[in-house]
Amino acid sequence: MTAAPVFDKGLANTVAAETQCSFIDGAKGVLEYVGYDIDSLARNSTFEETVFLLWNRRLPTKAELDALCAEIRAEYDLPEGVWQAIRATPRTAHPMHMLRTLVSMLGMHDHEADADGADANRRKSIRLLAKTPTIIANFDRHRKGKPFVRPDASMDMATNFLNMLNGARPTAAVAKALDVCLILHADHGLNASTFAARVTISTLSDMYSAITTAIGTLKGPLHGGANEEVMHMLNEIGTMDNVEPYIKGRLARKDRIMGFGHRVYKAYDPRAGYLKTFAKQIASDTGNERLYEMSTRIEDIMKAEVAAKGIYPNVDFYSATTYHSIGIDLDLFTCMFAFSRISGWTAHCMEQLVGNRLIRPMAEYTGPHGLTYVTIASR
Ligand code: ACO
Repeated sequence: MTAAPVFDKGLANTVAAETQCSFIDGAKGVLEYVGYDIDSLARNSTFEETVFLLWNRRLPTKAELDALCAEIRAEYDLPEGVWQAIRATPRTAHPMHMLRTLVSMLGMHDHEADADGADANRRKSIRLLAKTPTIIANFDRHRKGKPFVRPDASMDMATNFLNMLNGARPTAAVAKALDVCLILHADHGLNASTFAARVTISTLSDMYSAITTAIGTLKGPLHGGANEEVMHMLNEIGTMDNVEPYIKGRLARKDRIMGFGHRVYKAYDPRAGYLKTFAKQIASDTGNERLYEMSTRIEDIMKAEVAAKGIYPNVDFYSATTYHSIGIDLDLFTCMFAFSRISGWTAHCMEQLVGNRLIRPMAEYTGPHGLTYVTIASR
């Protein structure tokens, strides 16, 4: 202990880790991965290259990128026991419950699950990253009564995922849209799920446990679950005429509008800005203009009502329209977030393990003291 502990509800003013993965300036609306602005990565990079960047803190050469892609593709397939587990999963299960459980199960099939050392953790990170999309897409097929589509190692991650999900190769434009979403969601400082992953790995548990922890944390509607809630909200609103009464009614009741506000950004979330342009294009290409128009109307009303409080659209707001336009079911949206964020979670875990110290804050006890124990028969 070096200083008197300070109670900081929600840890909003606590710096709990050092990182070289991503930098956020919430006041200016800046996000960088390893020093590269998110906008330049979304425009020029690929998800696989972004993974290399987060794991190695530099951009790869062509040979290095090809080698990483080959390693990832070699791990797309699942252990037989996990294919069986997908078949045994209730079709009614929420995809995030399914994902948390089956990612945890991957650890039981990995002979290196408890191996420590940087090389073993990198191999496990590759497996987690490569196998998660196979689980998500094939669970969706299972619950719809469709046969599995095995992964295809000739395809990049975004193309392979959509090929498994839909049983047909996506157009290059749709695969690109997903690839950009994956880049934008890859890392984001010490958000709740990344913190949870770092806490777990700091106990010297294992990568599978850390990522399972993170998936459970991401699921909440105040975090990654918000993109699904945004889509529910758009469906509930239904028509343009209903946008204004719906949003103003919620604000009057002090209900939150999902997809708005952020603990760190008090300016426009730069990912939302990029996704807005993207959502417009993909919505118009796929006949979903109405959703996009409803979204911009919500944004206008929110701007007039609450922008003064620093509440703007966050990454989840326009990703809902984008994922819907790509043809992804709304209850898979948070799984899509996890698919991407595994890159950041694993990067943070590997970073945490260098010079690790157990993460263990304190609680301020507010209960009674000195009570006399009364036996159960006398209570
Ligand atoms: N809609 C309406 N009002 C809001 C919203 C919102 N979405 N978000 C914050 N506010 C208001 C609060 O009511 C509060 O107002 P008050 O000061 O008058 O009481 C003020 O803004 C501050 O809110 P806090 O809860 O203190 O902000 P905090 O930093 O704890 O919350 C959070 C951040 C949880 C993201 C919040 O903005 C929220 O609930 N948003 C909706 C859920 C969402 O979209 N989550 C995704 C976040 S991005 C991500 O995880 C990928």
